[in-house]
Amino acid sequence: MKPFLIIGNWKLNGSIIFVKDYINKIKKFLNKKKLDYCKISIAPAYPYLYLFNIYLNNIQMSLTAQNVDIHLSGSFTGEISINMLKDIGVKYVIVGHSERRMFHKETDKYISKKFYIIKSNGLIPILCLGETELQKNMNQTKDICVKQIDVILNDYGIEAFNNTIIAYEPIWAIGSGQLANPIEVQKIHKFIREYISQKDFKISKNIIIQYGGSINENNMDMFIKQKDINGFLIGKASLTAEDFISIVKKAEKILSSI
Ligand code: 13P
Repeated sequence: MKPFLIIGNWKLNGSIIFVKDYINKIKKFLNKKKLDYCKISIAPAYPYLYLFNIYLNNIQMSLTAQNVDIHLSGSFTGEISINMLKDIGVKYVIVGHSERRMFHKETDKYISKKFYIIKSNGLIPILCLGETELQKNMNQTKDICVKQIDVILNDYGIEAFNNTIIAYEPIWAIGSGQLANPIEVQKIHKFIREYISQKDFKISKNIIIQYGGSINENNMDMFIKQKDINGFLIGKASLTAEDFISIVKKAEKILSSI
């Protein structure tokens, strides 16, 4: 049975009322349904992580943070540390999302450092990577993935990837409704796994490789069935509890039959 992890990345959305309503709906669903085939998590904005922690009460859903600082404590006004995230029950941290690379000018080197600090301080980093439309058209997808992985490999070695997550998110597919071809995505995921495998077979076997980019209940089937796709990082479709629950229900059903 392949591991499958579905994470809802809320990005810059949400409010107290929204979070409470969402949690109530998720709780109602999870109280009745034991998840046998997939794990689920939500990445709300910082102010709502604690609300999730309190109201969710550890029921079959973990917490993801959308970002973290590279420092553990000290004079860094406006930042949030890994220890703070651990304090409020966070398990995963997204790093290298294309929106942070683009809008916050985060470089590969900085992302590498952040990835390593998250990993070495006991949380699980989710390394987002992927190509732009132009890079895709120039057949550079694999080169881009290698480049973004190599920075971490060169800086910290293959051990840094032990029990971590990679999320392949082609930039042109994010929030655009322009869905990637599941067969093409499988090829990229297989390539990424094989690339890691050249350095360490066991780590490559265990690494979770998620896909992200315009995934919803209606287009997810073919992705789930691909051997090297181990989950989804979902933006828009995770913003409605009903849609997120439908995705999880469907994932359970499909995964039980493959
Ligand atoms: P969408 O599902 O809205 O395309 O967003 C994907 C994403 O960026 C998840 O991190």
